[in-house]
Amino acid sequence: MTASFEIGRAAGSDAAALAGFAARLFRSTYSADTLESDLDAYIDKAFSTESQSAEIADPSAAVFLAKADGAIVGYVHLIVALAEQCAARLSRIYIDADWRGRGLANDLLNAVIGECRQRGVTRIELTVFERNARAIAFYTKVGFAVTGTTTFTVGADVQRDMVMVMDVAARTDDRAV
Ligand SMILES: CC(C)(COP(=O)(O)OP(=O)(O)OC[C@H]1O[C@@H](n2cnc3c(N)ncnc32)[C@H](O)[C@@H]1OP(=O)(O)O)[C@@H](O)C(=O)NCCC(=O)NCCS
Repeated sequence: MTASFEIGRAAGSDAAALAGFAARLFRSTYSADTLESDLDAYIDKAFSTESQSAEIADPSAAVFLAKADGAIVGYVHLIVALAEQCAARLSRIYIDADWRGRGLANDLLNAVIGECRQRGVTRIELTVFERNARAIAFYTKVGFAVTGTTTFTVGADVQRDMVMVMDVAARTDDRAV
């Protein structure tokens, strides 16, 4: 397996590959805690090629991909137009299991932070499943802090999520890991 990867903005031509990657990673992340029927319902809706095309084309969002040898090994989806214009939502960040712990998530996050700075976004919010210890550890490491809890619905399953927030201006490059 190659050791190098490249980060770039997703193009419309990436939609089908991204839909397949996103569905596979969503299923593997939550299969231990979620019924297959609930996963299927969510994946059918969220990760069709059409929905990924729409997210890539959405001017109020940004999708960055990490590719190795031309194949997607990670992605991040940011929604930049919240009710409060200076805030954005980190909607998804998913890295292939073989690529975790290798700095790729941090590089995707840096792409998001660059996007936020360009668009005048000063705060990034996210929600994360309360049992997703690795993701919570990653977010804490890069500068997010827990501010509360909320719910996230997968199919018919209502799960408890942590709400985490980052002050973009306060994050300096020495946070890079
Ligand atoms: C969340 C994710 C993007 C982070 O990327 P990553 O490459 O794994 O991140 P890192 O390895 O840099 O950081 C994870 C940290 O959690 C730690 N960790 C690993 N397993 C852990 C566990 N079971 N419990 C707590 N911490 C854990 C790691 O040691 C690391 O900390 P360290 O760098 O101080 O040692 C990636 O793990 C992923 O794609 N997970 C599956 C999808 C997912 O959960 N996405 C987020 C949905 S909200």
